[in-house]
Amino acid sequence: MEWVLIKNLKNHSGQEVEVRGWLYNKRSSGKIIFLIVRDGSGLLQCVIAKKEQPELFQLVEGITQESSIIITGAVREEPRSPGGMEMQPKDIRIISIAENYPITLKEHGVDFLAERRHLWIRTPKQSALLRIRSTVEQACRDFLNRRDFVLADAPIITPAACEGTTTLFELDYHGEKAYLSQSGQLYNEAAAMALGRIYCFGPTFRAEKSKTRRHLMEFWMLEAEAAFFDFEDNMKLQEELIYYIIQSVLEKHATDLKILNRDVEKLQKISLPFPRLSYTQAVELLRQKGRQFEWGNDFGAPDETAISDNFDAPVFVHRFPTKIKAFYMKPDPSDPGVVLGADLLAPEGYGEIIGGGQRLDDLSLLEERIREHNLPGEAFAWYTDLRRYGTVPHSGFGLGIERTVAWLCGTEHVRETIPFPRTLYRLYP
Ligand code: 4AD
Ligand code: MG
Repeated sequence: MEWVLIKNLKNHSGQEVEVRGWLYNKRSSGKIIFLIVRDGSGLLQCVIAKKEQPELFQLVEGITQESSIIITGAVREEPRSPGGMEMQPKDIRIISIAENYPITLKEHGVDFLAERRHLWIRTPKQSALLRIRSTVEQACRDFLNRRDFVLADAPIITPAACEGTTTLFELDYHGEKAYLSQSGQLYNEAAAMALGRIYCFGPTFRAEKSKTRRHLMEFWMLEAEAAFFDFEDNMKLQEELIYYIIQSVLEKHATDLKILNRDVEKLQKISLPFPRLSYTQAVELLRQKGRQFEWGNDFGAPDETAISDNFDAPVFVHRFPTKIKAFYMKPDPSDPGVVLGADLLAPEGYGEIIGGGQRLDDLSLLEERIREHNLPGEAFAWYTDLRRYGTVPHSGFGLGIERTVAWLCGTEHVRETIPFPRTLYRLYP
């Protein structure tokens, strides 16, 4: 008997197959039992009638939620069932009976669930989120690989800060101070000077003291960097990447998006190019909407939401004041008070999903900035070397995976978009 994943059952309609998984739910009318079985790839409804299969019916009465089972039987299409397929089991083999599974089918509080994240991920909505996350990550790699970008992994343990010194996780590196990486960007710049077009993809760490729905202490970032790419090339690459990710998710996850109650029309109608507005225009927009906002301040989450509410697609906000952006950003030659950096804000209030821009490629200005930002010059000596030996215009960006998944899935909080989130007050499990 062939073992088939639930998501592939539609290719086996009318055939007898084997499914291996866990019991998610059971409903009984006294005469008929409906089982909902999950195997990680989807949900399968099974029907057993007492009259026709009295022994199997009795066996099934004793199977509890999350017990592991192997079932065999013929499958057929059934549009009213959760996954679109239904099985009439011929045989059910119990692998292990689960006793008193704590996450029942009633509503639980978020703290209760977070404490049991190792089990919570078994529920349909959480599994759907993680499957979509996997596709988003794969789409990122596929897109960049096809564009001739080389994967160059950046280190996790680093001697210096990339994104400001206030959110560093410090560690003791054989008596020397080291930090968990906030971003692979600086190494990406070195790799781009070696390989041309590169990306890194891995976990990044920020000791953020913020407990918001958009912040994690550990999050995954896709970071691309390209030599000879200017600010415009960079934004074009970003919007094409996002568009590609959207299409991949829509194509592969119709069922998951339904489980998540996602309004897919909002994703379907997004087209290229994405709207763009300068920071200064964004400030004007905020004021028109009645918000008090002083030029020179950074946007808070409510400001970002107010801006993105004006658009159906992600929107680039570019040319931020030099003072509020990182030391490595290139000033706009025609207005050095602003930098050639852009944030991409997701629609529907999901906030900034990409930060990026053109890098400072001039040695003396870069050294000046490192001093202004009180960064240790020695730790950045290798980085300034990149401007000493064949410096070129170059640009890059970082895409936050969790925020992107939260937006695509229409999920309120980023903590549900990563298997085991690290949040401000929670390290367990
Ligand atoms: O805007 P950020 O800080 O940019 C950088 O780190 C650049 N060095 C990247 C680069 O150019 N190579 O972070 C990039 C993205 C944000 O837009 C956001 O999506 C995500 O990373 N991000 C977070 N996601 C979850 N939790 C946090 N604490 C995050 N901080 C940033
Ligand atoms: Mg940013």
